Amino acid sequence: MTRRRTGSRSGLGILMMILMVVILCGCSSTPSASPPSGPGSSQDSTNGTQLAAWNSDGMVSANEYTQSKRFGDLEMFTRLGDGVVHIAIQSKKEGYLSLGIRPEEKMMGGDIITCVLDGTKATIYDTYAIGTFGPHPDDINQSGSYDIMEGSGSRQNGVTTFEFKRRLDTGDKFDKALVVGNNPIMWAIGSSVDRTTRHSSRGFGDLVIK
Ligand code: HEM
Repeated sequence: MTRRRTGSRSGLGILMMILMVVILCGCSSTPSASPPSGPGSSQDSTNGTQLAAWNSDGMVSANEYTQSKRFGDLEMFTRLGDGVVHIAIQSKKEGYLSLGIRPEEKMMGGDIITCVLDGTKATIYDTYAIGTFGPHPDDINQSGSYDIMEGSGSRQNGVTTFEFKRRLDTGDKFDKALVVGNNPIMWAIGSSVDRTTRHSSRGFGDLVIK
């Protein structure tokens, strides 16, 4: 009697041990899952592959940018250069696409870069918001300077893309410095190419540069 009880106890013990080993080993053939890269999360867009040359041609090519992030209906791409950042702003929407760097109170204090594609003519405006809901006159009309370099834009296959580069710190008092890491931004999409009309969607977020 006693022996049989001991035998079934040790049998149970062995079974428990096998179960523990299985659980601790995580014996499963499924690879570990990556975190989702849905709205709001910044994504490394090169996947470890070598970077391609940056070309301001109004098109985002494979491995041209290192980061991408979605804000509402637009997507922004960044790539750090030597004292500069390369940026692409892309959306299926037509009208203006806009990035506002480090706003202070609502829209005020935001270094607003507004991209407009009128037909095939792309224009990128360097502006600065002086009121909580605007206005945001061009830097050059506020005794500042135009600091957008190598701007381009095009619409292809139903997607509008703008590309440009900017010094991280332009030294213009109507520009906000960008830093390596997280940059608080606001963004807006206008349904018209008239950049003075109010946005159809807007929001805040963080633009990652690295
Ligand atoms: C083009 C002229 C613009 C006008 C007339 C305008 C006007 C307004 C108005 C009236 C509001 C308050 C109503 C609302 O929440 O929608 C607002 C909010 C906002 N706008 Fe603009 N806006 C302009 C451009 C921009 C641009 C270019 C950006 C971003 C780059 C922007 C970003 C925002 C944000 C983030 C808010 C929300 C502020 C908050 O509630 O804290 N706006 N704007």
